[in-house]
Amino acid sequence: MMDAKASLQAWLSGGAAQRLLVVSLAASSTFVLFYVLYQRFFSPLAKFKGPFWASLSPAWKLHQLTKGNFHETIVDLHEEYGPIVRIAPNEVIISDKSAIREIYSTTQGRDFLKTDYYDPFTAFRPTIFGQRDPHLHAKRKRIVSHGYSMNALQAMEKFVQERVQLFMTKMREFSRTGEQINLGKWCHFFAFDVIGELAFSEGFGMLESGIEDEHIRLIENQMEFGSTMGMMPWLVPYTKWNLPIPWLQSLQAGRERLKELTQSRVERRRHKVSDRKDLLGRLIEATDPVTGEKLDPIDLRTEAFSSIVAGSDSTSSALSYTFHHILTHPSAHTKLVSELRTAFPNARSSTDDPPTYAELGRLPYLQACIKESLRLTPPATINLPRYVPSGGRVLAGTYFPGGTTVGMSAIPVHLDRKTFGDDAGRYVPERWIEGAVAPDGERLSPEDMMRYWIPFGVGSRMCIGKNVAMLEVSYPRPPPILHRVS
Ligand code: HEM
Repeated sequence: MMDAKASLQAWLSGGAAQRLLVVSLAASSTFVLFYVLYQRFFSPLAKFKGPFWASLSPAWKLHQLTKGNFHETIVDLHEEYGPIVRIAPNEVIISDKSAIREIYSTTQGRDFLKTDYYDPFTAFRPTIFGQRDPHLHAKRKRIVSHGYSMNALQAMEKFVQERVQLFMTKMREFSRTGEQINLGKWCHFFAFDVIGELAFSEGFGMLESGIEDEHIRLIENQMEFGSTMGMMPWLVPYTKWNLPIPWLQSLQAGRERLKELTQSRVERRRHKVSDRKDLLGRLIEATDPVTGEKLDPIDLRTEAFSSIVAGSDSTSSALSYTFHHILTHPSAHTKLVSELRTAFPNARSSTDDPPTYAELGRLPYLQACIKESLRLTPPATINLPRYVPSGGRVLAGTYFPGGTTVGMSAIPVHLDRKTFGDDAGRYVPERWIEGAVAPDGERLSPEDMMRYWIPFGVGSRMCIGKNVAMLEVSYPRPPPILHRVS
């Protein structure tokens, strides 16, 4: 033993330390060289174009996300590289509309499962949003979908109407006093208060107070945690190590606080006797029609957490964007106000009974304004990633090996001039009534366009809260245009 140690020391002291360093450097350089050569020329995804660094590491994606304009990056990438772009060593994004059904539909896309991107969105246990196992997802959906049905919604409509009245009263006050407000902030207050009412029969009181509740920050926190860590989900277990990274520590602390708040709201609601049919009440009563199983307290928390996270920020963005488009397009504003006044000639005051969702659904121009806003500025712009099933599949006419991550973002699909018309980049609600014209002169009907309108996703994982969202966005009337915005 001593001899071996002595000879090692002798070897090192004889200049071998430098030799060891050189050998390690040569080994790691060779590894890197082979890795780069493999990713660039031999990987099954090497044939797809995309940024150089993206082909080498998912860190490229993460870096782009942190810049805060990933949706624009996605559009730019498709413009530069075409309908299929490699955005990580094992991931591509696709903008060709033929791939929508191939990846997401309940028939063709049945075996394309959600990827581990969704894992960091899970708080207590996998929610209906984050559950990747298709059987467990179907089981959970059987239990919770009842709570999101049109029947359930009609029973809750009057609570949304109350919030609408409060929102409109505030808007009137501001327009009377001329006080300048941040409308986006008030849309946030409205969306959060409504989701609180719908989920737990308890709003957050933000419309009353005009003060941002802690939940807004915490939910933004959770979205940031989910979408950032989702870029490299294998890092998630390390986030529990309490690493001395202030950004991570604050996101983690926020997430824990949100879990606590959701838990206490769920417990309060569970012990409150109420005949009001809110989402949580329905979830407490819900049973699986096949197995008769009910949700346990942790699952209840999980689903309440999911509806708040998935349903607040997205709806608030949809409402803010819709107001933005209407207020910056005076002709749309005039037409919409005229349609509303003709349909409800007596509803002049915020204290009058607001119209019903069914009545609003029958107003073509209002619906066109909302659809157009969700087309041009969809709140969910991420590329909804899925794994290609084993054995591989042909998508948009190109073969992808099993295990490849593929995904589509609504934005490039919605901006396609061949699908939505030559003026697809502009806010033109009329296209949903009169149709549009493609660059080659082909007429596009609203029904044709509707097949590729995907702000709520497609297939079995499509948004379960779509009706809730459409209800919320349909209600608030646009404020008057006080100053023309250029
Ligand atoms: C305008 C507002 C909304 C937009 C744009 C939107 C968008 C989406 C999209 C694109 C998905 C599909 C995600 C994927 O495939 O990865 C989704 C799923 C989901 N959304 Fe929404 N959403 C909105 C409002 C809501 C609301 C109000 C709720 C709840 C009250 C909600 C709850 C959910 C849930 C639970 C899922 C997962 C469904 C499943 O996997 O089965 N969303 N949403």
